[in-house]
Amino acid sequence: MTIHIGARPEDIAETVLMPGDPYRARWAAETFLTSPRLVNEVRGMLGYTGMWNGHPVTIQGSGMGMPSLSIYANELIRDYGAQTLIRIGSCGAMQERVKVRDVILAMTASTVATPSSSLFRELHFAPCADWSLLRAAVTAAEAKGTPLHVGGIYSSDTFYDERPDLNEQMTRHGILGVEMEAAELYTLAARHCRRALAVLTVSDHLLTGEALPSNQREQSFGDMVEIALTAAFA
Ligand code: ADE
Repeated sequence: MTIHIGARPEDIAETVLMPGDPYRARWAAETFLTSPRLVNEVRGMLGYTGMWNGHPVTIQGSGMGMPSLSIYANELIRDYGAQTLIRIGSCGAMQERVKVRDVILAMTASTVATPSSSLFRELHFAPCADWSLLRAAVTAAEAKGTPLHVGGIYSSDTFYDERPDLNEQMTRHGILGVEMEAAELYTLAARHCRRALAVLTVSDHLLTGEALPSNQREQSFGDMVEIALTAAFA
């Protein structure tokens, strides 16, 4: 047990999927894993472990934002020995060609700062995905026929943004979408020699204002979970 995860050491698999929303962890575990067991409910941040195609998998909520994700990813890596950590989450599109429901694989994650920034002092570390996971996720998405974009994303500290000029610069520099967790996940994985990837479903569009209705979210999010699971064990 750790401060924020009540699971026994043997209850957490080496492969962990991390949605921001704990209820999405429950939905993904009940939908995609066989024999899912609740292994954590400290602070309501649900975590489940079950089997996928004969492989043990944990699906643990991370909460919203990099400080929250940092707590769960640190404990999963340092105390439970997680080796492969895949964020599954939503993002807002920042390019016209990226459509609501499309999937984005985050090759890099730009930030203003992460919880790790103070370690680097004057250095601007470039958080990037694990190449083997990224390549496997591309193959999985192509096999499913999921509309896919691979490139840089922006991990923001704010959902309600007071800096439209910053978003404009992101769009101008080809950033595909904005979310709030991937950069810290990539940085922690790099520090501890683990594999990490963010597989994101576009839930809203910053340029068009379109948003995915809640009754259509599950199907789109399902593709993302299958891509993540397939990539983890490729
Ligand atoms: N996650 C989903 N949509 C988002 C947005 N527009 N900004 C930040 N995080 C998001």
